[in-house]
Amino acid sequence: MPLEEYFAINGGNELFGKVELHGAKNAVLPMLAAGLLTKEEVVVKDCPYITDVSNMGRLLAEVGANVLFDGRNIRVRGQACKGALSHELEKVMRSSMFMLGVLIATVGEVKLSLPGGCKIGARPLDIHLDGLSKLGAVCEEKDGVVFCHAKKLKGAKILMRYPSVGATENLLMASVLAEGKTTLVNCAREPEIISLVELLRKMGAKISGEGTSVIEIDGVKELGGATVKPIADRIVAGTYLGALAVCGGELVLNGIGKNDVRSTLFAFQNRDFQVYDDGLSLRARATRRKRYDELSEQLACDVITGPYPLFATDMQPVVCAVKCFADGVSRVKETVFENRFSHLFEMKKLGADVVIDKDTALIRRGDLYPGDMIAKDLRGGAGLSVFAMGIKGESRVYGAKYVDRGYENFEENFKNIGCDIRREPVKKC
Ligand code: EPZ
Repeated sequence: MPLEEYFAINGGNELFGKVELHGAKNAVLPMLAAGLLTKEEVVVKDCPYITDVSNMGRLLAEVGANVLFDGRNIRVRGQACKGALSHELEKVMRSSMFMLGVLIATVGEVKLSLPGGCKIGARPLDIHLDGLSKLGAVCEEKDGVVFCHAKKLKGAKILMRYPSVGATENLLMASVLAEGKTTLVNCAREPEIISLVELLRKMGAKISGEGTSVIEIDGVKELGGATVKPIADRIVAGTYLGALAVCGGELVLNGIGKNDVRSTLFAFQNRDFQVYDDGLSLRARATRRKRYDELSEQLACDVITGPYPLFATDMQPVVCAVKCFADGVSRVKETVFENRFSHLFEMKKLGADVVIDKDTALIRRGDLYPGDMIAKDLRGGAGLSVFAMGIKGESRVYGAKYVDRGYENFEENFKNIGCDIRREPVKKC
């Protein structure tokens, strides 16, 4: 259980300074897997130092690739020589799901325990497996283990019942080396998918339509090496903006633009929150108001999460945190994952006025006080930390390790912009 460390956060400080944004976790992970599609070297630049990325490197090495961590650049060379993964790694990482597409395309078989990861929902793999079956793979799922094998993949028309991000990426990676043409219908349109296609195209893949709901792939015989810089992390950027909205101050986020965080900004928009974009960085300013213990004033808003371009589910916990400081009633509806409100129960322990009705939370400014909260997943942990940053006095967010999966040096980076935060070990008695 990753509860060995917690963040001690003394909330109420304004935030000032510069933040460097690096490659998006959810772009980097499938890109690293794509490195197995060629014998030549694939270099993914500007990777974040987070545990999901280092674990992905271990996964690739385990199936036979050479993986070199060269600062922020990760070099993947050599294809996989086996299709089975160690139980220990695949269980802790949802991203082991990307092994399905690349291993079936190269080794011709893959055996995978159903991936672990955040406890935010059941997260089945049926859309992935249905698509791989259409490409000619034989897929079986028994007692939590998936086994797929194929002599040769053949292009097909695949209609996905839901625009799953991971299934779109997996089917892209499986079909680039398949014989003939593949048409993926009802694809996810997330920017991270466009970023992955940029890499696959540099490697020699023939793909069109990324960023729309229909992607066409003309299979090629082999792919070559390439170097790519993934898009910056819009969820990390949104987390800093959320903290700023709550704490007040002024931040410059380097490497991201207004457009990349459009819907997040919409949720935080009010007269106290101003954003400027010079094309290379985003400057955001949040003015404090006397009437709320000098915290920044927030307006209530309605948010419904959904596949891109709808509101990103990964931002939902941070938006909930911010809306705990808002005037009026905010309505947050989670449509992507069926169990992504655990952070709200923790916020309620510290006075947040929240009513949950199935997939919808009604959130109002409560009488907030510092205390202890337990993170149950990555983005929930970030949301709880932002919430604690807005409350005067020391709060503790247990489960720092969840946050480490997706945020680089979380406490150092927030300390650098003025937050009173430190990481502490849980004392064992
Ligand atoms: C990706 O997960 C992200 N992970 C998630 O980020 C993100 O929350 C999610 O997309 C939605 O935006 C990575 O990119 C590595 P989905 P993914 O398949 O691909 C259901 C984070 O915190 N579904 O689009 O696994 C599924 O259960 C993480 O950074 C099926 O039913 O998400 C969910 O309800 C968490 N069958 C919905 O679709 C399937 O075969 C969306 O899942 C596949 C998915």
